[in-house]
Amino acid sequence: MNIPAPAIEARHLIKTYPGDVTALNGMDLTVEPGTVFGLLGPNGAGKSTTVKILTTLARPDSGEATVAGHDVLRHPDRVRRAIGVVAQHSGADPAATGRENLRLQGRLYGVTGAALGRRVDELLERFTLTEAAERPVKGYSGGMRRRLDVALGLVHRPEVLFLDEPTTGLDPQARSAMWEEIGRLAGEEGLTILLTTHYLEEADRLAERVAIVDRGRVVVAGTPDALKGELRGDAVHMELRQAVGDAGRTLLTGALRALPGVHEALVDGARISVRSDDGAASVPALLAALERAGVGVATATVARPSLDDVYLRYAGRRYSEADGPALVGGAR
Ligand SMILES: Nc1ncnc2c1ncn2[C@@H]1O[C@H](COP(=O)(O)OP(=O)(O)OP(=O)(O)O)[C@@H](O)[C@H]1O
Ligand SMILES: [Mg+2]
Repeated sequence: MNIPAPAIEARHLIKTYPGDVTALNGMDLTVEPGTVFGLLGPNGAGKSTTVKILTTLARPDSGEATVAGHDVLRHPDRVRRAIGVVAQHSGADPAATGRENLRLQGRLYGVTGAALGRRVDELLERFTLTEAAERPVKGYSGGMRRRLDVALGLVHRPEVLFLDEPTTGLDPQARSAMWEEIGRLAGEEGLTILLTTHYLEEADRLAERVAIVDRGRVVVAGTPDALKGELRGDAVHMELRQAVGDAGRTLLTGALRALPGVHEALVDGARISVRSDDGAASVPALLAALERAGVGVATATVARPSLDDVYLRYAGRRYSEADGPALVGGAR
């Protein structure tokens, strides 16, 4: 049997920065060709550092990695020809037009003449930038700029595309347009895509496999469904009429965990999340317990476990509690 070689493989990457910052602490990854892989984690988890090493922009202290079959340390030039990179911060020249940026990028990769012209037209069209093509990039909206960034990463038809937070800072509409385009790219062009994101929903929607990264290593990896399926029972989320203080939180957590069928309870300000064998059946007992504690409940919802719940289980804290902004929006 012929097992295809992974498009990306990283083994035990370690990377430290001056000042005793451990950015990567044993990062392992395997990405199969033609798939979308989501690297998910909070601020400072090590996502961009992983991307920098895999795209030859940084060297690990130890560990090894191959991309498109080439060793990133021994053959960085071969890796660079095989990949497209969309960095977390835009690399486009703001003073140049969209078309000029694309043409320059193509020439850097040795695409020239009529082939370059065709490729640029095709990308402008596909990322709905044709009308804006002759305008300087500094006048583009955030969504337009991000679409141009992705187009820039594709000019030379790479085998593997790295997208470092392609939708951070975009409004919801621009974000879903970008999701559609990324989904199409993976489907039609057979590209391998490694995507980093803060957004649980983004990983859930786009990635066939995800790895949750916390403090420089993968805490759990698998298909989004498999990860969610490993969690027993349902998630019950409640919004309180007012936030609970530190003293109340401990008492309340204990009281909720003691209820039959309840495995986990997390009180976080005005939000409570509970995992229970049967979510709907637990709601009356949960509401009664909260009423006894004098806590008013504004809303209660029962849901199948989300990636946020997966994160809670493996990282030992809520995704939204990890360093950085709370970005669980729409994740369930
Ligand atoms: N050039 C650098 N010098 C010093 N420390 C760095 C450098 N780059 C990253 N770090 C540190 O390494 C850790 C991992 O950073 P990294 O940028 O990989 O995280 P990230 O997961 O991409 O975060 P974000 O979601 O904020 O982009 C952080 O603690 C960061 O402060
Ligand atoms: Mg980053």
